[in-house]
Amino acid sequence: MKPLKIGMIGFGTVGGGVAKILLGEAERITRRAGRPIELRRVAVRDLNKARDIDLPPGVLTDRIADIVDDPEIELAVQLMGGTDPAREVMLSLLSAGKDVVTANKALLCEHGAELFAHARELGRSIAFEASVAGGIPIIANVCCALAGNQITSLSAILNGTSNFILTEMADKEESYGDVLRRAQELGYAEADPAMDVDGTDAAQKLVILTLLAFGTAVSLSQFPCTGIDSLELDDLKCADELGYVVKLLAVARLHDGKLELHVSPTLVRKHLPLADVQGAFNAVKVTGDAVGETWFSGQGAGQLPTASAVLADIIDMAVGRAQLTFKTLVLPGEGAEYEVQPIDDIVSKFYLRFNALDRPHVLADITDILGRNGISIASVVQHESPEVQNGKEPPVPVFIMTHRTTEGKMRAAEAELNRLDSLHSPCVRMSVAE
Ligand SMILES: NC(=O)c1ccc[n+]([C@@H]2O[C@H](COP(=O)([O-])OP(=O)(O)OC[C@H]3O[C@@H](n4cnc5c(N)ncnc54)[C@H](OP(=O)(O)O)[C@@H]3O)[C@@H](O)[C@H]2O)c1
Repeated sequence: MKPLKIGMIGFGTVGGGVAKILLGEAERITRRAGRPIELRRVAVRDLNKARDIDLPPGVLTDRIADIVDDPEIELAVQLMGGTDPAREVMLSLLSAGKDVVTANKALLCEHGAELFAHARELGRSIAFEASVAGGIPIIANVCCALAGNQITSLSAILNGTSNFILTEMADKEESYGDVLRRAQELGYAEADPAMDVDGTDAAQKLVILTLLAFGTAVSLSQFPCTGIDSLELDDLKCADELGYVVKLLAVARLHDGKLELHVSPTLVRKHLPLADVQGAFNAVKVTGDAVGETWFSGQGAGQLPTASAVLADIIDMAVGRAQLTFKTLVLPGEGAEYEVQPIDDIVSKFYLRFNALDRPHVLADITDILGRNGISIASVVQHESPEVQNGKEPPVPVFIMTHRTTEGKMRAAEAELNRLDSLHSPCVRMSVAE
């Protein structure tokens, strides 16, 4: 049996996991792929770095060109992260006649439409199961198993770090900062966790899913994206009191023929499946016009769960399934693209938290601004003022739930509210799932 020779760029967390499975489970992988998979070259930045997996002699290189220019390598596994030089590397791999497997969501979010079109033109294929929700086979399901449906909505927890932080804050009654530090110590959060906690990572994955489910290319600037980084334990406790759990949700749904998209911390009714997703797990609810609601959950990141998805793509490339799937993806310009709902028109109920100074008329000022912006209030919660600390009166949290209103009205009201000198800090807002 002629082996499939592959070149892997990146030998970090995910690349290490892929090598571990390819080398340690060679017999099983050969059986599933119908032929041996030979890891011919592995490119890294720094040849002197200590690695915990031994590769056969001559495999490791610090020259990506050793993979691009090797005519025997048919498949490249691109696991280097970032967009620069990853975009250039990917374009040259495709131009050199190689199919590509990648886990790089940032790259596909920003340049996916260009890279897919380039691959199509050249008769090459790209597979990217690991780029969304790590080990959960969500791309295979959206592209293949649910292909008979018009997908009408996706609602998902796509960032394990944020879900871990929210779960721990609620369970252990710890502050955001304390849990984030613990998440970093445990390796759940990166040294720089900004893109995880500010919603960017979830938004990048939503862009990829939107391309697949709705054939529509969107950019991050076209939809609102808020993370969990301004939440306090009080928000989770208030949500609990009102019968909700807080989750960072990424949502894409067809609404009056338009595509509504957003990423935001969201109040989800307790006991709904998404509310029960704990720790670093991810979950995706996909609704199709024929199938109805379907649910997928599992580990959304980490070495072996992500390598599991990369291996599935490598095997699919070896047997030819990935090429067929890529050929039939409906890319932008090839089918019915949807208009993206303007941000200001997105409708939701909202949760608001104000850290107000304990002064007369504060509540009246807040409700007056909401009222003048056409936002009606469903409920208000204010607890007794906290005790004086070091001679200073701490701010009093005031929680407001609104009725359904638009993002535009909410943004206008927020701008006015944040100018009130009776507020100790900017107002915190979450969506309420219906
Ligand atoms: N980690 C996860 O759980 C996870 C989950 C889903 C998707 N992903 C995605 O998978 C990709 C890889 O993530 P990772 O966590 O494995 O990253 P990582 O641990 O930082 O590894 C990156 C690898 O790429 C190599 N590299 C970087 N720039 C290079 C260059 N210019 N030339 C050659 N090699 C270069 C690095 O070499 P050195 O080792 O020499 O530094 C390293 O081996 C990213 O796109 C990430 O978003 C990761």
